[in-house]
Amino acid sequence: MRTIEWKEDGVYIIDQTALPDEVNIIRCEEYERIAKAIERMEVRGAPAIGVAAAMGIALAAKGCTLASCEDLQNKLEDAYERLRKTRPTARNLFWALERMRRTWISASSSEPKELVKRIVSEAISIAEEDVAVCRAIGRNGAELIEDGDGVLTHCNAGALACVEHGTALGVVRSAAEEGKNFIVYATETRPLLQGARLTAFELKNEGIPFRLLTDNMVGYVMRQRLVNKIIVGADLITRYGDVVNKIGTYGIAALARHHGIPFYVAAPLSTIDLAKNIEDVIIEERSPTEVTCIRGIKIAPDGTKVINPAFDITPRELVSGIITEVGVVDPPYDLSLLFRQGGNGIDRVVS
Ligand code: MRU
Repeated sequence: MRTIEWKEDGVYIIDQTALPDEVNIIRCEEYERIAKAIERMEVRGAPAIGVAAAMGIALAAKGCTLASCEDLQNKLEDAYERLRKTRPTARNLFWALERMRRTWISASSSEPKELVKRIVSEAISIAEEDVAVCRAIGRNGAELIEDGDGVLTHCNAGALACVEHGTALGVVRSAAEEGKNFIVYATETRPLLQGARLTAFELKNEGIPFRLLTDNMVGYVMRQRLVNKIIVGADLITRYGDVVNKIGTYGIAALARHHGIPFYVAAPLSTIDLAKNIEDVIIEERSPTEVTCIRGIKIAPDGTKVINPAFDITPRELVSGIITEVGVVDPPYDLSLLFRQGGNGIDRVVS
């Protein structure tokens, strides 16, 4: 099954908080349920939350019994505002919501029934494109993987973080499909253990050889030469190639540079925000209990003060290449060259 699917009776998502112990499916009938799913991280990962938000807008449109297009647009604006507030960092969420908004504005002269149809179809297109884009990222990145490699990844940038296939794990999947023999080193990724719970789950199901390590073992595996490539996903990439990704990514990139190991980032163009510089990035700060507890079990004394940033920023000079659906981009980065301005906002593809 896909991580997220549009069906006639609602949006179906895999509950990622229950994995790997249980595979539970949540059916969302209203946009508010989608918003809650993103906040609770039942659906997570930058591309997946973009698709979920787009489908949230489609649910808002579909559930609308209003007579005029103007009323419908007001309802859609409410859904848009609500969904924008769910998580602050991942670019794909805002990209997908802006795209949905452009759709209903450009179709505003249509009959309400026709407008709803256009909105639902746009959300489905965003999901379908994600599948194709991840496949292309996988193909492009697989060229970097060779027999005998040790490939380290962080967090979960797999099928679960997208609609299917994945970005960083999409590269790994494609390389495995091509018959290459290599081992994946997956960090557990505290505090929420996306590596241990989700990446390990995906790799195990695919039969791709992997080792799980705790986050503090990264330097060790590099010094032991078990790892010779790093591939991670991204939540936002700035115009000049600075990478916002799961907390801990920056430390891995710095260690990789120290050991002379290439550090690649795999992400769709929808993750790139040409308008943002490092200082404009909003890093989500999450609940202290994620740090003081592990899966509901308290591990620190009562009243312990913590920091809990969900993401960090890896500066462009540590990034060896950015794997996108249009190819692998080498430094120095000016990612604006990958875009052209289309009729409905930023579109792709140039070179
Ligand atoms: O907080 P999360 O689990 O949503 O963070 C996810 C990540 O940091 C992923 O690495 C990123 O979204 C890339 S997913 C293809």
